[in-house]
Amino acid sequence: MTARSEEPRALARRLVSWYRRNRRDLPWRRTRDPYRIWVSEIMLQQTTVRAVVPYFERFLRAYPTVADLAAARLNDVLASWSGLGYYRRARDLHASARIVVARHGGRFPDRLEEALALPGIGRYTAGAILSIAHGQRLPVVDGNVSRVLSRLLLLRGAAPAARDRRLWSAATGLVTAASEPGDLNQALMELGATVCAPLEPACPRCPIRAACRARAAGLQLRVPPPRRTRRLPVTIRADVAVVERAGRLLLRRRRDGGLMRGLWELPTVTRRSGADGLRLEMSEPIATVRHSITYRRLELRVRPARLLSEPPRGRYRWVRRGDLRRLPTSSMVRKVLAAYGERPGRRARRLV
Ligand code: ADE
Repeated sequence: MTARSEEPRALARRLVSWYRRNRRDLPWRRTRDPYRIWVSEIMLQQTTVRAVVPYFERFLRAYPTVADLAAARLNDVLASWSGLGYYRRARDLHASARIVVARHGGRFPDRLEEALALPGIGRYTAGAILSIAHGQRLPVVDGNVSRVLSRLLLLRGAAPAARDRRLWSAATGLVTAASEPGDLNQALMELGATVCAPLEPACPRCPIRAACRARAAGLQLRVPPPRRTRRLPVTIRADVAVVERAGRLLLRRRRDGGLMRGLWELPTVTRRSGADGLRLEMSEPIATVRHSITYRRLELRVRPARLLSEPPRGRYRWVRRGDLRRLPTSSMVRKVLAAYGERPGRRARRLV
């Protein structure tokens, strides 16, 4: 920190005390089990707390220990992840669980280098797990923490690498000065998530407002500068064929090399891919469903369809609706089937 030497300690004390009084009661905050904290941190990497909570609870019921996760089939793990998105995380988590069982006696490693060697664990995640579970003095900087610290120190104008260095160094200063490193790190995350918001920071509620340089300069809305969208959104239109036979739906396994590889989906027809080996007769669209995946905005026309010949073997399966949850699917399937079930003239019924 560039501030006076007693300042990190005073700030850390305020932050930790504020956190203890204001923290949200979240399931991974009721434990110090490194495995549970690990799962929560992986789920929280690209997903909001609200969306994560039910997945977290279900995932831990299915895989209560690292050994259970390591013993599971990847397909089942992906099924438990269905709808959370960024499936690479589930693959890495599963691969890491196997390494933890094979090389670390089933305990998440408590040495930083060993944690960093696991797939899907970077500096942020390792710091979060080791500080929260083991009280190690390791800093964390994620999007929320970065905003809090940028405002506190009025960091602006620096090149990204220099800015990053200053952020990590400030986070290190604070965690080093804290009585409880895990609480300090979570205090910074929590402050960013609930008070030091990007567009409407609630400065009067902030425990460190008196030290905040951005606030003193009246620049809290301009620091950090609003992020430009990394990529312009691209709209992709596709037809989704809902083929039913004897109470079963026709599903296809994705085979492209993207993030959703291996997930099951309703056969989707785009101009580029065509029907991909299927011969279909599709009726008029009965609904349009919108679904975003990173920068892609999918506009899916839901079309009941009939097969003109049997699907090629291998990638297709007839799946009973009640069995859908056992397969890895993206939340797109659920959205499309919800729209399909609600179409006019059809009695509403639960499809998934
Ligand atoms: N985001 C990342 N880690 C978190 C945590 N432990 N609590 C709340 N939000 C988080």
